[in-house]
Amino acid sequence: MGLVAFASAKGSPGVTTASLLVGALWPRPTIVVECDPSGGDVALRMPGDDGQPLDPQRGLLSLVAAGRKSLYPGLVPAHAQRLVGGQEVVAGVSSPEQSAGIGQWAQLGELFAELPGSDVMADLGRIGAGTPQNALLTHAAALVMVVDTVPSNVIHLRERLRRVKDQTGGPVGVPVHVAVVAEPKRARAVREVAEALERAELQLAGVHHLAHDVPGAGFFLGQVSGNPDRTHLVRSARPIVQELSERTQPYFVPQVSTQDDSESLLDQEGQA
Ligand SMILES: Nc1ncnc2c1ncn2[C@@H]1O[C@H](COP(=O)(O)OP(=O)(O)OP(=O)(O)O)[C@@H](O)[C@H]1O
Ligand SMILES: [Mg+2]
Repeated sequence: MGLVAFASAKGSPGVTTASLLVGALWPRPTIVVECDPSGGDVALRMPGDDGQPLDPQRGLLSLVAAGRKSLYPGLVPAHAQRLVGGQEVVAGVSSPEQSAGIGQWAQLGELFAELPGSDVMADLGRIGAGTPQNALLTHAAALVMVVDTVPSNVIHLRERLRRVKDQTGGPVGVPVHVAVVAEPKRARAVREVAEALERAELQLAGVHHLAHDVPGAGFFLGQVSGNPDRTHLVRSARPIVQELSERTQPYFVPQVSTQDDSESLLDQEGQA
């Protein structure tokens, strides 16, 4: 169906957490795919739905190996696993060395954007002007850049987006959203980040406030206790997910008018 990418410019502001969070709240079925070449974290943090650790042999690397000649959607289910709570994931590589052999980032992007029945949330980790996983972005419906409110990190994000924009002749060719991780009460700091980015004329699709919330983020470290719906993290993410899923929908589901549609339209017009 469609591909949404998550990344950061610097630091570890919570990209993996945001990918899993948005994947869990998305209104359509999702698969979270860890495409961070520096190594995946999900298999280290969360058990499978049977309570056992994920199978280390199944994930992005096994998918790429199986699709060496041809990557097609039917390959994906055998390399995806279900986390506790039900989220489907394709776990990332276990070391940067393993990702060195992955040359099919663009084909992976195409595959994930066309997967029947599921939208894909791709965790790209840290991206730069020349990082190989950028090739996935060509097929993405949206890119969500995660940042905190530290001024130097915001400047790094701004410069990163400028470079990627220069490289591709547009704002990465896809709508770019920024998720600013900040304490729930620090809306003003988020506005300041938004203003700083606005001044850079990066044509962002949106700047959103994602709560800094340790207990909420703990759910994505496998520390499951209580009701996640009540956490600041989930509450702050719901409007982001709604906007993102609504705004990206036209990319996912082309509005093809069927014969029935046109007939009923004609009928309505005839009656008017
Ligand atoms: N919104 C948040 N509020 C509080 N803590 C968070 C939040 N998001 C992430 N964290 C915590 O910050 C740490 C890093 O998070 P995460 O792994 O999601 O970041 P990352 O950007 O993917 O990092 P890496 O560079 O290692 O891939 C984790 O301990 C996580 O629980
Ligand atoms: Mg990560």
